[in-house]
Amino acid sequence: MCGIVGYVGPQAAAPLLLETLQKLEYRGYDSSGICVIHQGAIQVAKARGRLRVLQELTRNGQSLPGSIGIGHTRWATHGEPSDVNSHPHLSQSGQVAVVHNGIVENYLELRDFLSEKGYTFASETDTEIAAQLIDHCYHGDPVQAVREAVSLLTGSFALGILFRDHPDQIIAVRKDSPLIVGLGKGENFIASDIPALLKHTRDILRLDEYELAVIRQDGVQVFDRYGDPVEKEVQHVDWDPGAAEKGGYAHFMLKEIMEQAEVLRDTLRPRIKDGAICLDLKHITPEDLRACDRIYIVACGSASHVGHVARYYIEKLTRVPVFVELASEFRYMDPPVTPHTLTIVISQSGETLDTLFALREAKARGSKVLSIVNVVGSSIANESQDVIYTWAGPEIAVATTKAYSAQVAICYLVALYMAQCRGTLPETRLQEDLAALSGLPELASRALQAQDHIQYLASLYFGCKDIFFIGRNVDWAIALEGSLKLKEISYIHSEAYAAGELKHGTISLVEPGTLVVALCTYGPLQEKMISNIREVKARGAIVLALAPEGTPLVEETADHVMYIPRANPLLNPSLAIIPLQLFAYYVALLKGCDIDKPRNLAKSVTVE
Ligand code: F6R
Repeated sequence: MCGIVGYVGPQAAAPLLLETLQKLEYRGYDSSGICVIHQGAIQVAKARGRLRVLQELTRNGQSLPGSIGIGHTRWATHGEPSDVNSHPHLSQSGQVAVVHNGIVENYLELRDFLSEKGYTFASETDTEIAAQLIDHCYHGDPVQAVREAVSLLTGSFALGILFRDHPDQIIAVRKDSPLIVGLGKGENFIASDIPALLKHTRDILRLDEYELAVIRQDGVQVFDRYGDPVEKEVQHVDWDPGAAEKGGYAHFMLKEIMEQAEVLRDTLRPRIKDGAICLDLKHITPEDLRACDRIYIVACGSASHVGHVARYYIEKLTRVPVFVELASEFRYMDPPVTPHTLTIVISQSGETLDTLFALREAKARGSKVLSIVNVVGSSIANESQDVIYTWAGPEIAVATTKAYSAQVAICYLVALYMAQCRGTLPETRLQEDLAALSGLPELASRALQAQDHIQYLASLYFGCKDIFFIGRNVDWAIALEGSLKLKEISYIHSEAYAAGELKHGTISLVEPGTLVVALCTYGPLQEKMISNIREVKARGAIVLALAPEGTPLVEETADHVMYIPRANPLLNPSLAIIPLQLFAYYVALLKGCDIDKPRNLAKSVTVE
């Protein structure tokens, strides 16, 4: 949800800002802008459309000389995507320039206040209000001005700010939206996320709530919300710079799908050692896990689909009841959370605002929070009592794939660990499951070999208008994700149903030629799935089934089958998603869609 960058150092700022913004385009891509300070003035270039429009407009930054600047790639919230609504926003005096990620909730009130003071506004954005407010608070001391202005803002913000009269410094401040400072040699940076900076530095500072940083070429000072200096720990990021590049693949999404075997290896290997589970929980004790009488899993989108798989694992292995809630609902539903509740929060980015607020809600009600997060040091990771990182590396494509798979694998491991703590699984069975889980990367790599077959199937059905996904039990959870993957990148209307539910209404939509993707990996209910397949076929549907290798009944009933390797049934969710991700990818490819940046979406949803 909007990406911001900033640079101060010896290099030409504008080309570097454009290059770093490119790595953040996944956060928003309806418009972009940069500004630099040069010869005593702030010079701005901004444009509606993809970053390439701005690149052309500025001749790759050549038209904006200067060695300090800030930049922004936008996902519109207030005001349509347009040149004038693009960031950076300048105060009317030309003193202050601001880039912003988040939402200033009291912007109308502030707008009235500033109007009374004689300010006028060029755009419809909340960000312009922030720029004018900082200008209004400025009496020669930029830090003081920003601190005062920020104390008047409600909502969420990560701000990068330039002052014309202080051409040697960027000020950065954040609340509820992510912001990092990159430490270079004789140059420094700000960015919303790590991939933007990997090419330049891997030493970063993460700003905490309300922390304010003054970034100069020769150093960075950080202050807390009261203005006291803070000593920040430098975090060294291990990610390989190549991890944020396409590496020869046509799209990040395909690269990330194909990386899954390796990601599962990286995620699982450090957690399964000599037959023992090493989750390294510091604050959530085995005693807490024994005492817990219910679990809430809160997350958004695909991460909430992982929650449904996790529910299957945890209830099966521990018999503790699990409730999976959308984070945006959980926050407002007055959930019956008690100190005996464990809340599991799942998030790739670790910055999804609804999920972060749901986490705070659970904590405020006395629940311990365990998070499963990909981005190290992100807000959700920081605010949880314990975090398990998924080690999937940077995920750039807007549609999640490898992070989803890593989350599922971690959930299985968490369920096994809970079962061990609660004594609900015999040791022999635990060892069998751990051995199976250790073999998952190899099985995932076999599942990926079906790539060509899936591409062929996609070539048969990419023209469909509607596609239904059905499954029972845990297959329904996978159907939810398969359907979301398809619709978000191919724009084909799709819905996922528990297969038994279809005949309670939706089957009326099935007509000759409707494609139904039927997940048949859950053994105990396979025969019932066969009946559901027959029901839709009787109404003219074409059925594309998904089943473990060697499932003759499915093969005889469906029109086509996507196979996954036969494995321990608890690994089926991890394997079944792979063909569905590939199917979505190839359908979208054949339709000529912008796969890595689907319309209207952004990777990191840092607004409500
Ligand atoms: C879909 C997708 C989204 C995210 C959701 C939560 O492909 O990626 O549905 O899963 O926005 O994001 P995180 O996991 O960052 O909290």
